[in-house]
Amino acid sequence: MSDVRISRRAALVGSGAIAAWLSSPARALVQLAGEARTPAFINELIGRMTLEEKAGQLQLMASAWGGGAALALNPPQGNSDFSKQVEEARQGQLTGVFNGNGATMARIMQTAAVRESRLKIPLIFAADIFHGHRTIFPVGLAEVGSFEPDLARRTAEAAAFEAAGAGIDWNFSPMVDVARDQRWGRGIEGGGEDVLLGRLFAAARVRGFQGNDLKSNEHMLACIKHFAAYGAAESGLDYNPVDMSEERLREVYLQPYKAGFDAGALSAMSSFNEINGVPSTANHWLMTDLLRGEWGFKGFVVSDYTSDQEMVDAGFAQDGREAAKLAFLAGVDMSMQSGLYRQHLPELVRSGAVPQARLDESVRRVLTVKAMLGLFDDPFRRIDLKRETARSMLPQTRALAREAGRKAIVLLKNEGDLLPLPRVGKRIAIIGPFAAGAHDLVGPSVMYGDDSKAVDLATGVRLAIGEPGSLIIVQGSGVEEPLPGGIAQAVAAARQADVVVLAIGESAVMSGEAQSRTEIVVPEPQQRLAEAVAAVGKPVVVVLKHGRALALEGAVADAQAILATWFLGTETGNAIADVLFGAYSPSGRLSASFPRASGQEPYYYAHKSTGRPNPPGDLQPYKAHFRGIPNSALYPFGHGLTYGKIAYSDFTQSSPRLAMNGTIEVAATITNNGTRAAEEVVQLYAHDRTASVTRPVRELKAFRKVALAPGQSQVVRFTLTRNDLSFYGRDGKLTVEPGTFDVWIAPSAESDGVRGSFDLMA
Ligand code: BGC
Repeated sequence: MSDVRISRRAALVGSGAIAAWLSSPARALVQLAGEARTPAFINELIGRMTLEEKAGQLQLMASAWGGGAALALNPPQGNSDFSKQVEEARQGQLTGVFNGNGATMARIMQTAAVRESRLKIPLIFAADIFHGHRTIFPVGLAEVGSFEPDLARRTAEAAAFEAAGAGIDWNFSPMVDVARDQRWGRGIEGGGEDVLLGRLFAAARVRGFQGNDLKSNEHMLACIKHFAAYGAAESGLDYNPVDMSEERLREVYLQPYKAGFDAGALSAMSSFNEINGVPSTANHWLMTDLLRGEWGFKGFVVSDYTSDQEMVDAGFAQDGREAAKLAFLAGVDMSMQSGLYRQHLPELVRSGAVPQARLDESVRRVLTVKAMLGLFDDPFRRIDLKRETARSMLPQTRALAREAGRKAIVLLKNEGDLLPLPRVGKRIAIIGPFAAGAHDLVGPSVMYGDDSKAVDLATGVRLAIGEPGSLIIVQGSGVEEPLPGGIAQAVAAARQADVVVLAIGESAVMSGEAQSRTEIVVPEPQQRLAEAVAAVGKPVVVVLKHGRALALEGAVADAQAILATWFLGTETGNAIADVLFGAYSPSGRLSASFPRASGQEPYYYAHKSTGRPNPPGDLQPYKAHFRGIPNSALYPFGHGLTYGKIAYSDFTQSSPRLAMNGTIEVAATITNNGTRAAEEVVQLYAHDRTASVTRPVRELKAFRKVALAPGQSQVVRFTLTRNDLSFYGRDGKLTVEPGTFDVWIAPSAESDGVRGSFDLMA
C-alpha cells in the first residue's frame, strides 16, 4: 500500500461541494502531497484528527435513508433519522453508511461530509451487492455450477458497473464461506462445497468487482467475508459456533478467503461465529497473526452487523466497552452498526486500555483505502444521478444474466431423452407455485433488484414455444401450505397435457441469513402435488427452485427429467426456456452434493473414508452408512448431464511415477456419441492412499470445459505436480509425502470415469 500515489483530482461533481472541497484541509493536503506516497498525506491528516474524529472514521452505520427496498436486509430506521445521520457525517462521527439508496442519498451525505465537516474527509458508501445490483444474476452457488470462473468475473464486473454508477464505493461481497451442510441457509451466497472452486470463484469475483483500477467509477472495493469459517456452523444452524482443527481450517475453510486476498481484495468482514471458543470478531490469531502477519493483508477489517456487541450475549465480553476493546485489539479496524467504536474508543485510548498508535494504525488503513478508491481526489466520482439511470439494466447486462442463467442450470436426470422438449406439437402444462408470477425470481438477499423486472417461467416458455396459446398454467399449491382445490386443478391440467413441467421447490425466504432448515426437502404440500400429478402418468419434467442442495423424494426423485435451476435472477424464465427447448444444451454441474436424505448432512464428496467403508454394492453390517442408505450422494458434486451422450475412455499417464520435483501428465478421451452438441466439464480428482493425516476419498484438482460436436472426440490432458498433492500436516504446515495416489478423470466426484494411479517418489 505504501506504493500508492495520490493522483490529480478528477472533475468534481456538485457545485456547492466543489467550492468547499477546494478550500478544505483534506484537499490542501492532497495538493501538498502532490505525487507523494500515501502515508505522508494520510499521516498528516491523522495528525490533525481528534480522538473522536478518529473513532468516527472507524464507525460504519446502516443508512438511515428510508427511501425504498434497500433496507430489506436490515431493520429500517425511518426517514426521520436521516437528518440526524447527515449531522453525524458533519460532525465526523461516521466513516460511511451501507445499504443506502443510490446517488441522491449519497450526494446529500457526501456534501455534508466534504463541505461541512471540520476535516472534510469523504464518506465511503457500502452495500450488499451479492449477485447483481439492478440486473440480478444467478445466486453465487448456482453460478459456481458453471465451472467457469471467468463468468463470475464478468457478472461481478457488470454488477460493479451498475452499482458504482449508483454511488456505491464498497461491496460487502464476495461471500466465500465454504458450505458443506445444506441445512445452513447461506450456502446460497457462496462458492459451494469444494475448495478449488471456492478459491477460483473468490478470486474471479474480486477481480470483477475491483477491476484493474480501484479509482474507476465502474468498479468498487470488494470485501471478503465472513472471516472465518462461518459456513461451518455446527449443525448448519446460522450463527452457531465452529470447533475444528487448525489443519481442516487451513486446508478447507481458509482457502477461498486467502485466494480473495491474493486477488487484491482490500477489505474483509469478520464472521458472527466463534472458532474454538473465541469469536472471530475478537480473534487476534485470525485477524492479526494470520491475516496480516502470515498473509500480508494490507486493507482493513470491518465487523459484521453488530458482531462486536454480540460478544456480550455470546459470553465473551462483559459489556459493550469490553467488546469494543477486544474486537479492536484483535484487529477489527471498523465496527458495523453497533456504534461501539465511536462510543468507547476515545475513552479506551484516554484510559490507556487501547494504545493511541493502534488507533492511528486502523484509521490509516481506512483512509488509505479511501484514497485508493479515489475518494480524496473526487468524493463524488461514483455519485451521478444520470449515470445511475443510464447504466441500469442495459440490454447487454440482461444478456449476460441470461447467459449466466443458462450456464448455471444443472440437468440432473433425463430418462428417455425427454428433454429437450419440442417447440411445437406438444401441449405443455406448467404446474406449481413457481410456474408463473413475479415472485421468487431474483432470490434472497437482494437489495436493489426487483422481481417485477424479472422474467418468470411461464413468460420465458411462452416466448420460446411456437404455440403459446396451448400452454396451461396451474399453481396447484402454495410453497409451504396447500392451495384449496389446487391439486384437483393440477390433476385436470396434467390430464389435458402431453407433458408436465412441475415448477416446485423453495421460495426465496427459505434460504439466506438465519434460514437454516432441519429437513432439506421439497415442502410437504408441493410433494403431495407432485405425487398427484405423477399419478396421472404423463411425462414429468421437474424444474426445481432452491437455495441449497435438496434431498429429493418420491415422485420428485422419480420424475423422468429434473433440472436444478436455483435462483437465476432477472432472466430466470428465458434461461430455463433456453434449456427446456434445446436452444442451449445444459452444461452446469452441481456445486453442492444432493444427498439421499437430510440426515446425511453435512454431506460432501471430499469426506474421509473411515476404517469401515462399505465396499461397492449392497450395504453391509457394521460398515459406515446410515440404516438403509449408502454413504453417497443421490447426485454428487460435479454431476450434470448434457444433451449429448458423453463417454470417457482411454486413460493414459506419462509415467507410473512422479519425481518429487517433476510433473506427470494424465489424459482421457472424451467422446460425444450423441446427436446433439454438448459441453462437458471434465474433472480430475486425486486421492492419497496413505498419509500421516488421513486424506479425503477424492479431491478436485483441475477441470476443463470442452465443447463436443456430435460424434466428436477430444483428448483432455492434465498436468500434476507435487503442489497438487500437498496437505496440512499435524504441525499445521503444508507438506507433501511420497506414496501412491489414485486419479480419476470423471464426470462427477462419485462416478468412475477412467482412472489410474502413480507413485510420488521421495
Ligand atoms: C450479514 C452480512 C451483511 C451485513 C450488512 C449481516 O447480517 O451477515 O453478510 O453484509 O449484514 O447487511
